[in-house]
Amino acid sequence: MSGTDWEIVDLVARWVHVIAGIMWVGNSLLFNWLDRNLQPSKDAAPGSLGQIWLLHSGAFYHVDKTLLGGRPLPRPLHWFVVQAMTTWGSGVALLIAVYWAGGRAAMADPGLAKLSHGQAVVIGIAAIVLGSALYDVMQRTVAVRSPRLASAIWLTGLTAISIALTQMLSGRAAFLHVGAMLGTIMAMNVAHTIVPSQRQLVASVGGGGIADPAVSDRAKRVSIHNNYFVFPVIVLMVSSHFPSVYSNRLSWLLLLILVAGGAAVRHVLNIRYSMRTWAAALTATLVAGVAALYAAVRLGAEPQLAVVADASTPVTFAEVRSVIDRRCTVCHSARPSDMTFGAAPGGVRFDTPEQIELLAARIHERAVLTKTMPPANKTAITDAERNLLRRWSAQR
Ligand code: HEC
Repeated sequence: MSGTDWEIVDLVARWVHVIAGIMWVGNSLLFNWLDRNLQPSKDAAPGSLGQIWLLHSGAFYHVDKTLLGGRPLPRPLHWFVVQAMTTWGSGVALLIAVYWAGGRAAMADPGLAKLSHGQAVVIGIAAIVLGSALYDVMQRTVAVRSPRLASAIWLTGLTAISIALTQMLSGRAAFLHVGAMLGTIMAMNVAHTIVPSQRQLVASVGGGGIADPAVSDRAKRVSIHNNYFVFPVIVLMVSSHFPSVYSNRLSWLLLLILVAGGAAVRHVLNIRYSMRTWAAALTATLVAGVAALYAAVRLGAEPQLAVVADASTPVTFAEVRSVIDRRCTVCHSARPSDMTFGAAPGGVRFDTPEQIELLAARIHERAVLTKTMPPANKTAITDAERNLLRRWSAQR
């Protein structure tokens, strides 16, 4: 398949992925919200767990949460499974198109670890499989006796995997694969725990019996985990836009700050109905999270390149242009010779002096400060050339 073919796969899979993800996450947040706002009702039928009135799009909705109390199974009964499975399936298609086979983003980073593309792919897949297997085993064995211990062991595993990936894969790939691991766990929770326990519930009610509350408890537990994963997963999925974060020397720490911060915000939002000071707690969590993010980005920023040439000699535009022509325009041109990323990736072209001048600040950011361009240093730019770009940027 050509670069353009992969780009089309990327576009379609991403479109589906975002829509299905919105539907899945929207449902998850709405049902979680419902559960926390149900009111007991005196005139409710037996089996009721609470009721709620809602106002939406011009009419009132009345929802009664119930285990049916011996009444027959209502029909039709709506399940919410397709959204989760579509999100996961399109996510795998995206991983293949962008990272594993399509080559739209680098998996390996020669500046970090000497790995071939194939080895990096194996490491990425292994992280997803191992991380989700560890979670599943913990939930099925340890969590039955101690949910806290199960979570502690799994969080240690998550930390270890995050550190390992950020040391071995390109920054973008590392962040994305940790996100994919969390997303896989969420989909697995739906397919292996929530759906089977709902089947059991339907079968026991359909058989005229009373539903076993333990079954619905287990489904609720992993569904709450999914709720906590939502914010971390979303930030990891969009992290590839932020080179100062994923290419940072402390990228492992930044990854963990994002995951912990997202889960903490979710937690405050979840407990706000039973907490008077939730607004203050939310503000404190946001401020602490952003402060930690900022401090770690600053602390881990690459040290400036040593000045290898006489800094007092002004850099000419011709010198800059020759570096850019050699190292950048193979991709960043209306007619690129390297088509793996499609024409002019990121909408950036360096065909004319005006185009180069206009993007001077971004060139400095990506090629000098974060060193994330060229991706995985595909065109072998040297430190001296980066330094030249730095001096050009400084004298402007
Ligand atoms: C092998 C192809 C390739 C080469 C070579 C390359 N880039 Fe890029 N560039 C990309 C891709 C893919 C993107 C979009 C993804 C991203 O932003 O990381 C991009 C995006 C960009 C962006 C826009 C995003 C932003 O953060 O503003 C800038 C600026 C950029 N590159 C500068 C450069 C410079 C400067 C060079 C040469 C030193 C260079 N690139 C070399 C592939 C390349």
